[in-house]
Amino acid sequence: TTRRTLVAANWKMNGNKETVASLLTAFKSGMNGSSDVAVFPPALYVAQAAELLKDTDIAYGVQNVSAEASGAFTGELSLSMVKEFDCQYALIGHSERRELFGETDAQIAQKVKATLESGVIPMLCIGETLAQRESGVTEDVVRTQIQAVLDAVGIAAFDTIVVAYEPVWAIGTGKTASPEQAQEVHAFIRGMLAAEDAAVAAKTRILYGGSVKAASAEALFGQPDIDGGLVGGASLIADEFVAICNAAK
Ligand code: G3H
Repeated sequence: TTRRTLVAANWKMNGNKETVASLLTAFKSGMNGSSDVAVFPPALYVAQAAELLKDTDIAYGVQNVSAEASGAFTGELSLSMVKEFDCQYALIGHSERRELFGETDAQIAQKVKATLESGVIPMLCIGETLAQRESGVTEDVVRTQIQAVLDAVGIAAFDTIVVAYEPVWAIGTGKTASPEQAQEVHAFIRGMLAAEDAAVAAKTRILYGGSVKAASAEALFGQPDIDGGLVGGASLIADEFVAICNAAK
């Protein structure tokens, strides 16, 4: 495969100045360079991360962004702000944003569009709930989530967009999808993109997220359509996250 493994740390609403410094220091010294690495600190700590990560290959970004350019949107962050701090990535549509903050496929598609236009790379999160998996509609759910973005930005944008498949039942539960379960959905996603443009689909990085640990990373990343991971809990433990990043071949 020509797709280089990408491993991303989503710290969610965790940590403080001290943990940002200690984790990033450990990441800088521990990575063996076998994967691309990105970190998503809480937005207040992006400036600190930017300073600590300058002159390194570790990328960073924000966990959410507004599709609006500026104005009366209390609590939101614009892409011009994200750009000013040289963020390379923005997480878009994380399941917690969808579930807890009511983000819709249409809003997420607009965020992806605005992010692309700004030159920041969207990391688009998708995935089914346990109830959806048990009722056999996993592919329908994932198809609808991807289609909303395809309709807004077109297939060519998937040259740039990183997709993170995160089954909601595996997030923060310690229940990792098996490599085969994840591969099945990743292949479905790539097949859907390939139906639009096979060359683009061959380049799209599709990450797996949901209780990734050092012990499960190598088998997951060894699957043909799994191009890395989006890591929550384990990314707050320096040794664990470094081992996940270094598990890429
Ligand atoms: O963005 C990260 C995912 O939500 C996975 O979180 O590794 O704690 O399950 P987790």
